[in-house]
Amino acid sequence: MSARQADLSCTTASNRSVEAFDLKRIRADFPILQTLVHGKPLVYLDNAASSQMPQPVIDRLVHYQTSQHANIHRGVHTLSELATAEYEAARRKLQAFLNAAEAREVIFTSGTTESINLVMHGWGRKFIRSGDEIILTTMEHHANIVPWQMLAAETGAKIRVVPMLDNGELCLDAYEKLFNARTRFVGVTQVSNALGSVNPVKQMIATAHAHGVPVLVDGAQAAPHMPVDVQDLDCDFYAFSGHKLCGPTGIGVLYGKAALLESMQPFKGGGDMILSVSFEGTVYNTIPHKFEAGTPPIAAAIGLGAAVDYLCAIGLAAIARHEHELLQHATALLGQLPGVRLVGTARHKAAVLSFMLDGVHPHDVGTLLDEEGIAVRAGHHCAQPVMTRLKLPATVRASFAFYNTLAEVDALVDGVRAVQKVFA
Ligand SMILES: Cc1ncc(COP(=O)(O)O)c(C=O)c1O
Repeated sequence: MSARQADLSCTTASNRSVEAFDLKRIRADFPILQTLVHGKPLVYLDNAASSQMPQPVIDRLVHYQTSQHANIHRGVHTLSELATAEYEAARRKLQAFLNAAEAREVIFTSGTTESINLVMHGWGRKFIRSGDEIILTTMEHHANIVPWQMLAAETGAKIRVVPMLDNGELCLDAYEKLFNARTRFVGVTQVSNALGSVNPVKQMIATAHAHGVPVLVDGAQAAPHMPVDVQDLDCDFYAFSGHKLCGPTGIGVLYGKAALLESMQPFKGGGDMILSVSFEGTVYNTIPHKFEAGTPPIAAAIGLGAAVDYLCAIGLAAIARHEHELLQHATALLGQLPGVRLVGTARHKAAVLSFMLDGVHPHDVGTLLDEEGIAVRAGHHCAQPVMTRLKLPATVRASFAFYNTLAEVDALVDGVRAVQKVFA
């Protein structure tokens, strides 16, 4: 199937799903949702950290391991050819999922963190020089800060930071003013993992391109929750992780425009990323293989292909609608509870709700909610600059997925009330 055909089938599935968003059926696909925690039904609201895996993805992994597994790209035997075909088919599914122009623009990595490190090593170390400037935002995950700090330390480049308003929106005027003749690169998250703010990345990319500057979008918290079209965004790089998208851990994607990927140096050396090797010199392979040294996570890539099939069959637009309803319900209920302070009230938000309880440390909230079977996260969410900006040590974060219910939101609110009683 061509990418366009795959994309059309994804679109068709999402249109069909408008009437067919059947939460009961969807939940039945997730065996882990039947789990009891401390004797209570699991209410899983830690989806921004890692989402759960539906049975069709588990079945796909089992089928691969039990009847298709062999190493890829190097064998002439039947199983190796089959595994190679399945691995490359998964790449085309991801191409369609992102609406990338070509399959070779999709590189399998171990996750968002590795995708960003690949760009830092492959693009940054080749093109960034002393005195160059890299623009990041206050609300980046550490994965989109630390690699650039390492590059800055190595090259003498400088990091400039887009400020954030109190409500968790980026200050776009300040962003535009950061550009100058030394600006070389922009890294921005599409959705803040700590606050849920949805950033206007398409507009930010257009601004950067007007200055001739490429942009990397961290899509870790966006790709699972909304349709992504890298050609429409016109981003130069787009990174996300499989385990936040109902897929396995240890797999992720870096999308890059072909011309940029071709201009880059490899990140890791080894087998598969070469065309020929001698002690006189090595000729690197073409993209995407140039960036996939060694045996890749074959099963995980195929599992991720099955995960995007699953999400496309439900429809990303339908998923976004349902999660928006969950977020609105939770915002309304928690927002009116005395002693609760919502953290991050941007106008455009995805399915993340951060909050504080007066007089209770977020870790205590998380621990007491866990006793009720409710899984949330408490901490700085690997976004310490956000906490510093808001003068908070940590927050409690409930993060939703399409398989969550309004009743689970109600359970969260009841749980928060119970915590308040303990500390009253
Ligand atoms: C916005 C964002 N970027 C990057 C990451 C890092 O993802 P991973 O640990 O899967 O590499 C996360 C994980 O929480 C994230 O939320």
